[in-house]
This record gives sequence, C-alpha cells and structure tokens, in this order.
Amino acid sequence: MLVGVGLGPGDPGLITLKAIDTLKKSDKVYVPGRLAADLVAPYADCEILDFPMTKDDEVLNEVWNRNADIVAEDAKDGTVSFGLIGDPNFFSTFSHLRRVVHERYPNIEITTIPGISSITSFASRTGTAIESSFEVRDPTPVTSRIILKARHPRDIVDSLESEGFTEFVFAERLFSDDETIITDKEKIPEKGNYFSIIYARKG
Ligand SMILES: C[S@@+](CC[C@H](N)C(=O)[O-])C[C@H]1O[C@@H](n2cnc3c(N)ncnc32)[C@H](O)[C@@H]1O
Repeated sequence: MLVGVGLGPGDPGLITLKAIDTLKKSDKVYVPGRLAADLVAPYADCEILDFPMTKDDEVLNEVWNRNADIVAEDAKDGTVSFGLIGDPNFFSTFSHLRRVVHERYPNIEITTIPGISSITSFASRTGTAIESSFEVRDPTPVTSRIILKARHPRDIVDSLESEGFTEFVFAERLFSDDETIITDKEKIPEKGNYFSIIYARKG
C-alpha cells in the first residue's frame, strides 16, 4: 500500500496524529525534500527521492517512472508512506506520483492522509477570514469547483452541467461513521446535509 501523508505547512506541531501514526507504522518512508525529511525525522527514518526541476519531458518521464518503480518495489508487500509539505491532494508532487504508480502497478492500493495546506495556513497566519466564494489558482486554467453547504445537490449538479462541468463527486460527513461519497452523477440525491460538499470538474 502507498500512502500520501500530508505533513502540514512546516511547523512540527501542525502534523496530524494520524500522519504520525502512519509514519511510525510504515515499512518505508519517502519524501521529496529536506523540509519534509526534517518533519518526518522524529517518527521514522526516511529517504529523499530526487525530483529535479526541469521542463525536459524526456528527463521528467524517466524521473517519474524511476521514482514510481522505487516506491512500488516496497509498496507491493508493505506499507510505504510518501510524506510531503501541506496536503497530498492540493497541487502536490504526490498526485502525479500516484498516477504513474497506478499506471505501472495497478494492483497497489493508494490512499492519502490530509494535511494542513498552504491555503488554510495562509488564512491562519495572516488573519484572513474567507467568508464567501473564492478562487485558488496557479498559472493553469480553472477546471474544477468546490461547492460547500450542498443542501440541494441535484439542483447544484444541474446548474453546473449547464456551465460545462461534466464530472461530479458528492460527499457528506467526511471522515465520520456516517460518511457518504457518491461519484455516480445519477445517484446524487435531491437533498443533502449541511456537512456536504460537491466537487465538479470539466473533463
Ligand atoms: C507545489 S505547491 C504545494 C502545495 C501543498 N501541497 C499544500 O497543500 O499547501 C507549492 C506552492 O504552495 C504554496 N506554499 C506551500 N507552502 C507554503 C508556505 N509555507 N508558505 C507560503 N506558501 C506556501 C506556494 O504558493 C508554493 O508555490
């Protein structure tokens, strides 16, 4: 199994208990750099994988494939953590690594543990309260949207479809015993709970 472990923004006090537990139980821990290595150090030995900053596609492909092979070799028969700064699903090295590992080794189970991302860290450190809709982007076009408080999920999906969104995930009470996650658009219900989110993507 391969686990992407969010280590938070850099403060050793902002790592989750679940992240620490997973690092301690892992057979092997990899990280993409020194900052992540320092955060992991109190809980596990780790190895830094090299991800050179280059735009050369050939070099990039070779590096991703090599790193995927290294990680997969351990993840075939044990638990491997890949620790990284922030959250493993937000603009993260892990997202591409998981894609390449999945393509090359489809039998390896892959999961993630959320971490405090730079977005919520920024809000905290600067005293910025986000109280209405906002945009987070890097230089790429905006292709996804997250809707909170999705009490009327079907209506929301219909409206987003008319804007060109094609893929939807409905999630309620995440990480609780009553967690619901629906990825089949046709099964998204009329009524939702306050603790609900819709993720929509343009394909
Ligand atoms: C590749 S993304 C990684 C984001 C990370 N996975 C997360 O959840 O925050 C790198 C970008 O995140 C932002 N970032 C990450 N850590 C930060 C920090 N401690 N302070 C300010 N910005 C940070 C910067 O904009 C940086 O260019």
